[in-house]
Amino acid sequence: MRYQSRQVDIEGRVRLGMESALTARDRVGVQDFVLLENYNSEATFIENLRRRFGENLIYTYIGSVLVSVNPYKDLEIYSKTQMERYRGVSFYEISPHIYALSDNTYRAMRTERKDQCILISGESGAGKTEASKKILLYYAVTCPTNDHMATLGECLLQSNPVLEAFGNAKTLKNDNSSRFGKYMDVQFDFRGAPVGGHIQNFLLEKTRVVHQNQGERNFHIFYQLLDGGDDDLLKALDLQRNPQNYNYLVKGNCPRLSSVSDKNNWKVVMKALSVIGFTEEEVQRVLNIIASVLHLGNTQFGEGEEGETYITSETQLNLTAKLLGVDGSALREALTHKKLTAKGEEMISPLNFEQAVSARDALAKSVYGRTFTWLVQKINQSLAVKDELYHSSKGSSVIGLLDIYGFEVLQHNSFEQFCINYCNEKLQQLFIELTLRSEQEEYETEGIAWETVQYFDNKIICDLIEEKHKGIISILNEECLRPGETCDVSFLEKLEDTLGGHPHFVTHKLANGKTRRIMSREEFRLLHYAGEVNYNVTGFIEKNNKWLNRNVKEVMCQSDNQILRHCFRRKEGTDQKRPEMAATQFKNSLMKLKEILMSKEPSYVRCIKPNDAKQPERFDEVLVRHQVKYLGLMENLRVRRAGFAYRRRFEAFLQRYKPLCPETWPNWHGRLADGVSTLVNHLGYKEEEYKLGRSKIFIRFPKTLFATEDALEAKKPDIALTLQTSWRGYRERAKYQRIRKAVIVIQSAWRGMKARRRAKRRRQAAELIRRFIKGFIYRHEEYCSENEYFLDHVRCSFLKNLRKNLPESVLDKDWPTPPPLLTEASEHLQRLHMRNMVMKYCRRVQPEWKKQMMQKVVASEIFKDQKDSYPASVGRLFLDTRLEREQINLKVIQTLGNDKVQYGIPVIKHDRRGFKPHHRQLLLTNTFAVLVDRTKIKQRIDYAALRGISVSSLSDGMFVLHMPNEDNKQKGDVVLHCNHVIELVTKLSMMASKVNYVNVCPGSIRFAVSRGKEGIIDFVRGSELKVTKGKRGHLLVTAPQINTT
Ligand SMILES: Nc1ncnc2c1ncn2[C@@H]1O[C@H](COP(=O)(O)OP(=O)(O)OP(=O)(O)O)[C@@H](O)[C@H]1O
Ligand SMILES: [Mg+2]
Repeated sequence: MRYQSRQVDIEGRVRLGMESALTARDRVGVQDFVLLENYNSEATFIENLRRRFGENLIYTYIGSVLVSVNPYKDLEIYSKTQMERYRGVSFYEISPHIYALSDNTYRAMRTERKDQCILISGESGAGKTEASKKILLYYAVTCPTNDHMATLGECLLQSNPVLEAFGNAKTLKNDNSSRFGKYMDVQFDFRGAPVGGHIQNFLLEKTRVVHQNQGERNFHIFYQLLDGGDDDLLKALDLQRNPQNYNYLVKGNCPRLSSVSDKNNWKVVMKALSVIGFTEEEVQRVLNIIASVLHLGNTQFGEGEEGETYITSETQLNLTAKLLGVDGSALREALTHKKLTAKGEEMISPLNFEQAVSARDALAKSVYGRTFTWLVQKINQSLAVKDELYHSSKGSSVIGLLDIYGFEVLQHNSFEQFCINYCNEKLQQLFIELTLRSEQEEYETEGIAWETVQYFDNKIICDLIEEKHKGIISILNEECLRPGETCDVSFLEKLEDTLGGHPHFVTHKLANGKTRRIMSREEFRLLHYAGEVNYNVTGFIEKNNKWLNRNVKEVMCQSDNQILRHCFRRKEGTDQKRPEMAATQFKNSLMKLKEILMSKEPSYVRCIKPNDAKQPERFDEVLVRHQVKYLGLMENLRVRRAGFAYRRRFEAFLQRYKPLCPETWPNWHGRLADGVSTLVNHLGYKEEEYKLGRSKIFIRFPKTLFATEDALEAKKPDIALTLQTSWRGYRERAKYQRIRKAVIVIQSAWRGMKARRRAKRRRQAAELIRRFIKGFIYRHEEYCSENEYFLDHVRCSFLKNLRKNLPESVLDKDWPTPPPLLTEASEHLQRLHMRNMVMKYCRRVQPEWKKQMMQKVVASEIFKDQKDSYPASVGRLFLDTRLEREQINLKVIQTLGNDKVQYGIPVIKHDRRGFKPHHRQLLLTNTFAVLVDRTKIKQRIDYAALRGISVSSLSDGMFVLHMPNEDNKQKGDVVLHCNHVIELVTKLSMMASKVNYVNVCPGSIRFAVSRGKEGIIDFVRGSELKVTKGKRGHLLVTAPQINTT
């Protein structure tokens, strides 16, 4: 199958969009009839249907109306994947499908918050029930749900097999023909989830319970029970498997169906009943009733000699009574007698044979019909909205589904066909009104001039049937109520009298010769919108009367079976008031239905049956043409095309075709209408080809649209490239923006932090300055919180400054001025520092230097401020010796032996008398000193004996060693002159430990010469050093003045 393989190819991809369908239009026709160039031609229309049907494309649009052709085979186009394809996708953007219509309706309900309804019409076997089931399944699968709603969805789906088992039957037209009308409301809450449902049933074809045409069957449930019910069940119901044993099942002579298995369906129905919530007892009661109908059918009557009627099959009767839960004899009585009330008196009269049979059949029909209604009510209970939220929310909406029996023309048409066809007539009227009205409204709102299209208005037929007093229903009612003997023939006569001459009404009597030949005398013919139908009036009166013996009703009221007790109210048995006639009841329910449908936004599915043989791939053109005609599809198309073949909202049109014009691509920023106008100008649309409404563009010819579509197809690679580029650009821009944003965030965070830090620093600085100033003001106060910082700072900075400016030598007496508070500490530090410096200095001093220093210290103690030459000596080092070892005679050294010479110096010795000078060497040992004249030690001076050492206060080098005078051996004091007198005297006094024995004599020195004689040396200041003899034998030493400053 080409279609299937194509489907598999594209599985999962939404590819069969409008554009691709348009591209493939030559092969599979157009997917919307409005795109047909030759829209007036019925042949073109049918050819398009045929071509599509041949390709298994069973769905085609006429604008928003979906035309569906029954394929009579399973197409793989109803999977979950397919449902997903259609979910949320625009109606026109994908190939036509029942799911597209379902989804569109659902979305319209959600977005426009308006109740919707889907009207499915078509003749028997055209696929209405199948379509309604597909719609229901689509909602159950795709709508949002919760646990409760999931079971609700299940109940909605499961209601179908139950209703079909009890309300569908095999007919010549359809193996599963709906023999009742069904209108189902699915209620959705504000979130779009199904929360409840309600089914309204219309006129079940009850005649079928007791009679079937040749080749037809009774309702499925009878066969399902006999075939599927287990042995125990059948035994309990006293039933036999063979349907041929039951009079009510043999009339059509067609007990089995090749297309379906009753056994399997039995299981499905039983399961569905339990899912919906039927209890076991309830199921049992229903089955009792079904079985009782079969037994009732087998109840036979006999005619007595006096014409009285009696029951010949007692067992059957008793079985029936048992299953119906009623008293056997009461039932017998009710089936063979009737109760009459005449002049206030109750009378019982026996029924004749025909009347008894009729009463029996009436009971069977009534029992079955009422049980069916009870079933619908019971299903409604379980579908009822349970959610409190739904009742309280205003956002809830409804989608109604109408699947009603299709227009039917049988060999023998009776009251049921009359009702069915009347119903279809009414629906056609509704369709005409709504489609024309909505089309007209659209042109009006868009401000487009509207041309009226001629179409057949079936109001005339509706009136013929339903008009008060003059209509067929009124006449029938009148005839039923008329006192006296009423019969179907008198009804026909009345019709002829009243309606004779009506263009849509004919009878044998009224017809011309040709028609008369094919019409029987009991028939009247109606010229329906869908064709002519001859109705046989036989049974009209009885069926309209809903004739049921009063005593039968009374018996049924007392049934043990709760369902029957519910169906036959006690009041009904005793009520004298006539119940509403069947036709009136049906008419009223249709009026109500029309009201309901008018209040909702309608969508249409027009089902077409391709052949009468229920065969796949057979397209009977004559049959299809007939349906196209009576469904008014051509008119529908003409109306749709009257002005323009194609229309689209500006935004949708612009969105789709904007790549074809540089000004509108990639985006149009102005008004939508201007955008569309720019676009069509660019595309070169001629003026007569299109019109701009207020919100839509209307395109007159399909070829204009096709050309535009072709251009779009050719443009697609470019679009892809542009999209790619823009996407990449967008992606990079987005990336850049992201980075930029991040940078800005980081920057601002960083700047913020910096600013906060700076502000904090400033605050701290201000605080510091404040404290500093305050501290400065209070600086003279006691240490307190006001000045603590300042004072600490001053101290700290003093100490820091001090550290850098510490004196580096002991001689450096500079010291930074301390703040008043630190005076004491500063002095302390100064002392410490000084001590530290001294200590460091001392540690650095070498032993030789120490010796030198000690000598210098001693020199200072002796001579400082005493002798003129002292200051000059301070800077000169004291040498260890002024005579090298070689300068001292070896002999002298040998003489000294162990007493090592520690210091030697050349001196001039002045005689004590005459003061004659002699050059000598003065050598100091540890214990004595010797005066040496070259090789000879001239004098030894023991330190212990030394009495003193005298020096002048001037700058001369004279010194006198005072010797003890009591020792005669001594020659007296020694007068010596030396150039390094300070060095020599210091060393000598230290060696001799006679520091305190050194005298600095100002003016003159007295010395002992010998034996008590005394010499004097006078010292005067002069220009140069001179040692001369002075007056009175004194030695006069002139010492130069030394400038010490
Ligand atoms: N979409 C479909 N795919 C496959 N088979 C279908 C489809 N629609 C209908 N059929 C077949 O056609 C048969 C008749 O369809 P359906 O029962 O829906 O007709 P109907 O219009 O409800 O008739 P009636 O008025 O007698 O109830 C179905 O049993 C089924 O076999
Ligand atoms: Mg049906």
